[in-house]
Amino acid sequence: MPRITFVSFDGVARTFTAPEGSTAMEVAVRHLVPGIDAECGGACSCATCHVYVDEAWREAVGEPQGMEEDMLDFARDVRPSSRLSCQIVLDAKLDGLVLHTPEFQG
Ligand code: FES
Repeated sequence: MPRITFVSFDGVARTFTAPEGSTAMEVAVRHLVPGIDAECGGACSCATCHVYVDEAWREAVGEPQGMEEDMLDFARDVRPSSRLSCQIVLDAKLDGLVLHTPEFQG
């Protein structure tokens, strides 16, 4: 199962394993990771699951496309590494993924 680490804005790291096919948002919500609100439940319509992909993982995760790119306009403090975590699907190639959570959503 892929491992995923969430690093909070104040530097606290939390690592979990999750079945392939889970989204990063689902893992965060299941484990009550601070900084992920996910108000729409993964429908790509709220932007409150905004995360920053660690630099080492940006190429593997890829860039936001289509609806996700549009929704990121509603996120706060968007950066080149911004993604919506409900659109990041975990698989073997993302084993070890590191995501940084913002201090605030929305
Ligand atoms: Fe709403 Fe990701 S959970 S956009």
